[in-house]
Amino acid sequence: MNILVIGSGGREHAIARQFLKSRLCTNVFVSPGNAGMKDPISIIELKNVGDIIDFVKKENINFVFIGPEQPLAEGITDKLSAENIDVIGPTQYAAQIETSKVFAKNFMEKFAIPTAKYRVFNDYESAVMYLSTCSFPQVIKADGLAGGKGVVIVSDYKEAKSAVSTIMSEKKFGNAGANIVIEEFLQGWETSVFAFCDGKNFVSTIFSQDHKAVYDGDNGPNTGGMGAYAPVSVNDDFKHKIDESIFRPIIDGFIKEGHPYKGILFAGLMITPQGPYVLEYNARFGDPETEVVLPLLKTDFSEICQAIINQKLDTIKLEWENKACVTVVAASGGYPGSFEKDKPITFTPDFRENDNLLLFTAGVKKTGRNLVTSGGRVLMLTAKADTLQSAINLAYDNMNKINFERIYYRTDIGKKGLFSERKD
Ligand code: AMP
Ligand code: GLY
Repeated sequence: MNILVIGSGGREHAIARQFLKSRLCTNVFVSPGNAGMKDPISIIELKNVGDIIDFVKKENINFVFIGPEQPLAEGITDKLSAENIDVIGPTQYAAQIETSKVFAKNFMEKFAIPTAKYRVFNDYESAVMYLSTCSFPQVIKADGLAGGKGVVIVSDYKEAKSAVSTIMSEKKFGNAGANIVIEEFLQGWETSVFAFCDGKNFVSTIFSQDHKAVYDGDNGPNTGGMGAYAPVSVNDDFKHKIDESIFRPIIDGFIKEGHPYKGILFAGLMITPQGPYVLEYNARFGDPETEVVLPLLKTDFSEICQAIINQKLDTIKLEWENKACVTVVAASGGYPGSFEKDKPITFTPDFRENDNLLLFTAGVKKTGRNLVTSGGRVLMLTAKADTLQSAINLAYDNMNKINFERIYYRTDIGKKGLFSERKD
């Protein structure tokens, strides 16, 4: 089988690696990929959907796996499907569950999925008028895609007014902020879970936890994710509850709307004393959660994808290694603010990847033969071990062997999981 993955980050690197483990897979291509993705992964730069279609036909690609949200938002699935190309990823309509917060909140309300109470506004004055009647904190969300930066938690009216002004009047996120959602602030603990969906059936994965804040102890501004661990330990009743209250109604809802959801669905959850609430759905795998979830997957990944394409997910039972994974993100100093690029990345001679130590690259490029930094989140180091504590030790022992000028990483990834057996 020949598989094409679209995307260029650590997530796509982990997806490509997982396909390489499949007994069905012969070749894995990633477009545009990044310079840290090594043989046997082939990187190829396909500039537009037309190029992808030509490549799929020429290389006998069996299916295309879409990693990030942007191509889904642009309707890549619809365009490839029109050429009879099999795709893992929802249609442009279904992807609105991620690409429009207003769509997502209205959908959740319509199909009785637990989520924070909310109001939608399309003008500054009404939003500010409403905020003058609220108790705080409140959460303000730009409607459209904003690279994970369109959500602001505000602790008083003054902050709220300034956030609405930044999004709606100054148009910090452009058109993505033409509409906003203002919602109730929820308290609890956060976890992420994915479901493979074939338009009829779904099967959910183990739970994981992202670390979004830039500094240890969850302090500082939010980033694209500074690390993650899996599994978050939950019991069977909890898993069943999430399947029935969070995934089933949305899958059935899409069928009722005449737009079956085929692809990966990601639920970002807040587990409150009143039960689980959806903070957001994403139309794809999470990054960096993928880098800890996929390495624990024992079931053949290409078989799962084939089952999605053939609507046979009811025949698949996911199997997982009874181990723990931690991924630590190494970022360019200064990220998520401004940072410098082009710093050579070095490894000590004893640094070796193996089945339990996986290096995924993201913001990197090649200058001559050297790998150098080219983005905020540069690389992710995933360690797998029998216990979470040993996975944490393995990850950090090896992170010490990687260097570039002003390398920055959190030193407490996974710690939260050590103290809490989640049995809610
Ligand atoms: P989102 O992109 O909607 O998942 O929001 C980004 C982050 O903001 C989440 O991971 C939460 O930490 C936080 N957040 C979003 N909505 C809420 C809410 N209603 N209550 C509390 N925190 C929230
Ligand atoms: N890790 C959160 C996301 O991928 O959106």
